[in-house]
Amino acid sequence: MALSGAKASSQSFAPSLGIASTRSGVASPNLSVSLTSWNPTTFCRMNWKSLTGDQKDIRVRSGESRLASRQRVVNECAATLRAEIVSRNQNVKSRDMPEETERLAADEAGITRAAELLASGALVAFPTETVYGLGADARNGLAVAGIYEAKGRPCFNPLITHVSDIGRARKIARFPEAVLPFIRNGWPAGLTLVVPMRERNGISSLVTAGQSTVAIRVPVWPAAKALLRAFGGPIAAPSANPSGRISSTTADHVMTGLRGRIAAVLDDGASSAGIESTIIGLRDEEPVVLREGAYVVPDGVPRVTSPADVSSGVDSPGQLASHYAPSGLVRMNARVAEPGEWHLGFGDIKGNATLSHDGDLREAATRLFAAFHEADARGVERIAVAPIPDQDLGRAINDRLRRAAAPRPGLGQGGQPCG
Ligand code: TXA
Ligand code: MG
Repeated sequence: MALSGAKASSQSFAPSLGIASTRSGVASPNLSVSLTSWNPTTFCRMNWKSLTGDQKDIRVRSGESRLASRQRVVNECAATLRAEIVSRNQNVKSRDMPEETERLAADEAGITRAAELLASGALVAFPTETVYGLGADARNGLAVAGIYEAKGRPCFNPLITHVSDIGRARKIARFPEAVLPFIRNGWPAGLTLVVPMRERNGISSLVTAGQSTVAIRVPVWPAAKALLRAFGGPIAAPSANPSGRISSTTADHVMTGLRGRIAAVLDDGASSAGIESTIIGLRDEEPVVLREGAYVVPDGVPRVTSPADVSSGVDSPGQLASHYAPSGLVRMNARVAEPGEWHLGFGDIKGNATLSHDGDLREAATRLFAAFHEADARGVERIAVAPIPDQDLGRAINDRLRRAAAPRPGLGQGGQPCG
């Protein structure tokens, strides 16, 4: 298709939803998406071809930024993909959704089973040192689409790609000089890097939401490493929680939120850090912190962590304000609880439960989400949290508390949370 003034740009955007057949008996249309023309100032048009030869042209709105248009195009393609799957096989959902979620021990047999399930296109939650991830084969677009479905995530926020070692990470992404100091002595626990992607790296564009960067992480948790090695490929995984809810730090949390929606959870006890990874990206070729997290960033690295509006493009993590929220309302910096509040203490402030009697930030990070889960289980409607010092891991804790305390309605595309 030739459009006047349009420039073919397959190298800058060659999305492949990478659809492979998943589970036996499920009709999986072999869809491919290609950008046939692109002109950032006027419009771009995509061809959407399925086995049936259907095509879908998506026009980029005039004035829409390249980043925003990429994301929208991927969203629309993915929505079409799902609609097509459902219309081609009315039973796809019930047949594709597992009847019961298997709880696998993190031993050799469990890891082998988890790897087999991933290879078949199924979803498997697995432990990492930060939180449990909801994993799918990052090269299988249909499996990745399943993550959004299982989480009830209404928009296509990009996902972190997990790999077993730095060598594999280098096959997927380029690591500019500026980020090398972070991984010089091996990949640290709890760190994710957002770096430029290599061409034709096989990662589904649903994972990157059509962006030219990829968020990549090498977990240090032994069971995660063993799973990645047994599977032998990249695993895309957001935190293993229903969209907009608290991350899971145990297999029980995963079961509470996702039982019956995913094939299995690999149970390896509680995550050691208990809070999501720190995300570092690049701005003008210099490292910046996009999300505070389990890895404590050396001083001097600037922070760009304010909540982003996903509709304007996720080039910083789509950290919607109302992320990480328990059911109850959260109030921060509460030295004293008000009537009806369930008080979460820290240090000298005892509370009904405490994040850490000793005022230990590591312990508090580990307990934060577990405390939110406990509040949910008790049906708590209002949670007051003692002040947490805004240093080291306290920055990540306060970041999660601010988001949990933020107003909830009207966020994300379609007015819903997107985490
Ligand atoms: O500890 C963690 O980070 C866990 C474990 C499972 O790895 N994962 C996790 O994923 O917290 P998730 O999806 O809940 O948060 C990942 C964040 C999202 O806010 C997303 O917007 C951002 O990473 N992200 C992913 N790819 C990105 C990219 N290319 N550019 C900027 N941000 C990106
Ligand atoms: Mg999350």
